[in-house]
Amino acid sequence: MAGRLDGQVAIVTGGSRGIGRAIALALAGEGAAVVLAARATDVLAEAADLVRRAGGRAEPVVTELAEEASIRSLVRATQERFGRLDILVNNAGITHSARLEETRTEDLDRCWAVNARAPFILCREALPLLRRSEAGRIINISSVVGVKGYPLQSAYTASKHALRGMSIALAEELRGTKIRVHVICPGGVDTDMVGNVRPDIKKEELIAPDEIAELVLYLVTHRGNAVVDELHLRRATAAPWFG
Ligand SMILES: NC(=O)c1ccc[n+]([C@@H]2O[C@H](COP(=O)([O-])OP(=O)(O)OC[C@H]3O[C@@H](n4cnc5c(N)ncnc54)[C@H](OP(=O)(O)O)[C@@H]3O)[C@@H](O)[C@H]2O)c1
Repeated sequence: MAGRLDGQVAIVTGGSRGIGRAIALALAGEGAAVVLAARATDVLAEAADLVRRAGGRAEPVVTELAEEASIRSLVRATQERFGRLDILVNNAGITHSARLEETRTEDLDRCWAVNARAPFILCREALPLLRRSEAGRIINISSVVGVKGYPLQSAYTASKHALRGMSIALAEELRGTKIRVHVICPGGVDTDMVGNVRPDIKKEELIAPDEIAELVLYLVTHRGNAVVDELHLRRATAAPWFG
């Protein structure tokens, strides 16, 4: 059966696990070839195998998003392998939990580099390819902390506000082109990230990674005149994160 993304190519950063892997599987399930970017080679290879076993096309590209040269290599590898790019999902991210007074400059720099600087650079480097697409899409995964602020998350919060702000500015810059920029701001999702920070929260109270992937599919397949700039998701059943 024809997929809605047949012939298209997507980059998914952090595509090796968690939300990124769910997004990669969903895009590949609709026929897109997916370029998966992350650091851990074995986990990346497993995710690519998973996509292939499900009948999709996947290309793992080991990437350190904190390094500009590595980001450029990712775009170059995509161009060399597939010759095009239609969808860029800036999903990879890290968090850091500490009071601001106890947050070291290197922890702040690391959050900034991976969560905000890398998507900025990747958008810039990918735009020449995206401009050639009939319907280019950039999806940036910010967070509920890109809108609100929580204690113990000042470095993460600052980086996610920055990502959201950059996305809104870029969406305005690209008005009138075939490229659309979307931001998704989820609350707690059932991944390693939350498992490490808040192991006390029950899995059944968290958003499933597939729920984010379904929204990404909607955004990349929608062809009408309406543009969804931002999607905010909160957990339906839970008490507030810090309550
Ligand atoms: N989970 C949540 O509750 C939640 C809520 C709102 C927003 N988000 C956001 O959603 C995104 C995905 O989160 P997740 O929960 O799926 O996280 P996760 O399970 O920890 O996965 C993070 C992914 O990013 C990759 N990554 C991390 N640092 C990287 C680097 N320097 N270079 C390249 N890849 C890197 C990881 O692979 P390697 O470690 O192998 O590099 C992994 O594939 C993040 O931006 C996060 O901030 C998550």
